[in-house]
Amino acid sequence: MDVTSGIGVPQETLDAEIKSFFESAPPLKNRDHICEKLKEFIDRNLLPSGNGNARRVVCVTSGGTTVPLERRCVRHIDNFSSGHRGAASTEHFIKAGYAVIFLHRRRTYQPYCRSLPEDPLLECFEVTDESNIQVRQSDSEALTRAITEHHAAVAENLLLKLPFNTIFEYLQMLQMIAISMTSLGAQAMFYLAAAVSDFYVPWTSMAEHKIQSASGPLDIRLVQVPKMLSVLRKVWAPMAYCISFKLETDTKILLEKADMALKKYKMHMVVANELSTRKEEVVVVTSNEKISVCRDKTQVGTDVENPLIRLIVERHSAYIENPDL
Ligand code: PMT
Repeated sequence: MDVTSGIGVPQETLDAEIKSFFESAPPLKNRDHICEKLKEFIDRNLLPSGNGNARRVVCVTSGGTTVPLERRCVRHIDNFSSGHRGAASTEHFIKAGYAVIFLHRRRTYQPYCRSLPEDPLLECFEVTDESNIQVRQSDSEALTRAITEHHAAVAENLLLKLPFNTIFEYLQMLQMIAISMTSLGAQAMFYLAAAVSDFYVPWTSMAEHKIQSASGPLDIRLVQVPKMLSVLRKVWAPMAYCISFKLETDTKILLEKADMALKKYKMHMVVANELSTRKEEVVVVTSNEKISVCRDKTQVGTDVENPLIRLIVERHSAYIENPDL
């Protein structure tokens, strides 16, 4: 009998693909530093909080991964994601009492900064007569709130921000985070909103220097990125509550694809979203329900992440009570 991974690929093939991905990936430059920061963050949140339990910790992934085409990278392939979903969700999780490891693409939306202008340093400040710099009156309230809430979250060990650019960095860091969260058991959650590359150029077959256009049309062979969701669920963090996302542009196939992902990767929940309506509505797919979650359009300044995170926290609480359900 053929033993499969549950995703239609024989288990040994998937294991070999994952092994080959990690073995050939360029090692993280600051691995020891990340390891130290993670250990410190988890240890502090393992200490009993107000209710006598360890704090719940969620890893929120956000933004798109890149696939470099050259080792000394001049060009890359990118995956679309502004990081808005991840940044907004992080704020709501912290409000709900969670500590968040925010694994994000550099220079995408950041928690507490969503309502600020694109370049806050240049746009929120003005030079006064005495050549002093002061906050513009119109931005004062938003800026004060952003700085206060961000500083409080970091000072209370509720927010650890870890940036990535490439698919190599993202997957190595996701693995490190998952393993470091094992001690949290069912209190741990993964909220995988990042847009992750499906294809990559293996480091071993990547050009060292900038590819020359004078050489004519470019032929590159992209290899499939092994889906790490099954290994995350089965090996790296078997007790954690796992939520993945499904993005499509064709609504006709969205729910079917989300359902497939739920079953294939044994996720606890898949959040289905369509590109153009993703800020208004998402559908939460579980083994026995499809729940539409909408932004409250009657209120200004609301987001769909508010009701979404409320629902997720409720479901995570039920899971902590009874992980076998
Ligand atoms: O950032 P915004 O602009 O606010 O937009 C938010 C979003 C649309 C990016 C977000 O809501 C979303 O849908 N993110 C997932 C997009 C995506 O990559 O979908 P997918 O069908 O390619 O992947 C599905 C899941 O598999 C994802 O949870 C991904 O983390 C995971 N995956 C994907 C590829 C891969 N090789 N390994 C993976 O584990």
